[in-house]
Amino acid sequence: MSNIKRIGVLTSGGDAPGMNAAIRAVTRAAIYHGLEVYGIMRGYEGMMNGDFTKLESKDVSGIIQKGGTILETARCLKFKTEEGRRTAFEQLQKHEIDGVVVIGGDGSFTGASLISKEHSIPFIGIPGTIDNDLYGTDYTIGYDTALNTVVEAVDKIRDTASSHNRIFFVEVMGKEAGFVALRSGIACGAEAIFIPEVSGQQQKLINYLTSRGKKKKSSIIMVAEGDDEGNAFEIAKRVQTELPETDIRVTILGHIQRGGTPSAYDRVTASKMGVAAVEALLDDQKSIMIGLVNNEITHVPLSKTVKLHKDVSQSLLELADILV
Ligand code: F6P
Repeated sequence: MSNIKRIGVLTSGGDAPGMNAAIRAVTRAAIYHGLEVYGIMRGYEGMMNGDFTKLESKDVSGIIQKGGTILETARCLKFKTEEGRRTAFEQLQKHEIDGVVVIGGDGSFTGASLISKEHSIPFIGIPGTIDNDLYGTDYTIGYDTALNTVVEAVDKIRDTASSHNRIFFVEVMGKEAGFVALRSGIACGAEAIFIPEVSGQQQKLINYLTSRGKKKKSSIIMVAEGDDEGNAFEIAKRVQTELPETDIRVTILGHIQRGGTPSAYDRVTASKMGVAAVEALLDDQKSIMIGLVNNEITHVPLSKTVKLHKDVSQSLLELADILV
């Protein structure tokens, strides 16, 4: 029999579509197993301030289809300090919380890993970020929806690009990783994809544009925001200097990628992970992230997911090479 009677749930870092579906799953699974569940507002900031609200089943009805997070979120600098984490732990004790589920990305899991080590309280992570950059899981909640948002936007850009014979550099999010750019670039039929994991794209693009001559003039060039060759404006400027005849425009998709109704895939993944996180707490697991590998739920130590680097898929890179 587990000693867990009351758990907390929070969202932290950048919001991602599907976080609400995960909150709903954690809440309902906890109630199903006879536990009490408290929502912690604005991530670790709310934890330090003692901003806890009891959640009942009805509090999470009608949220599975909503983007953003009903618990709100924050990037909390104070939680990076030992003192901040002690304050947070004191609040958890005061509210008699026996375990916490954190829905977020690597920054949030670094904090979770530290507090659970320093104060011996179980923290279970659910990967929630559009970046899909977490080691130990094929998918993070929000990635699929963000990809669909990018594809919808770029399809529209493609219409105007081909009407005006223009080259569009489209910059997408992803922090230091190219997961969003690579997969969405393939889905949009981009003519080139710039990601931090692959170098030398600029010269390859110039060669391609030069060799195709006047045959086809419009193109979509996908650029990951973290690319080493620069941001979309910088790359576009250099290409323009090399090929002064080309008509170039730049679009930064920005935070539109983080909002919107979660896809069916994100909702189901979030639901599976939410239930698995509560079961992990009941199983006396500590300091792990729930992952999804080959469509199966897995447990990954938080220390591993924050330390190890996730590589982009080799087969997707090969696909892009053949098709782009
Ligand atoms: O981690 C999600 C993400 O959207 C990244 O892709 C991006 O680099 C960052 O967050 C933007 O953060 P903020 O909303 O704090 O500017």
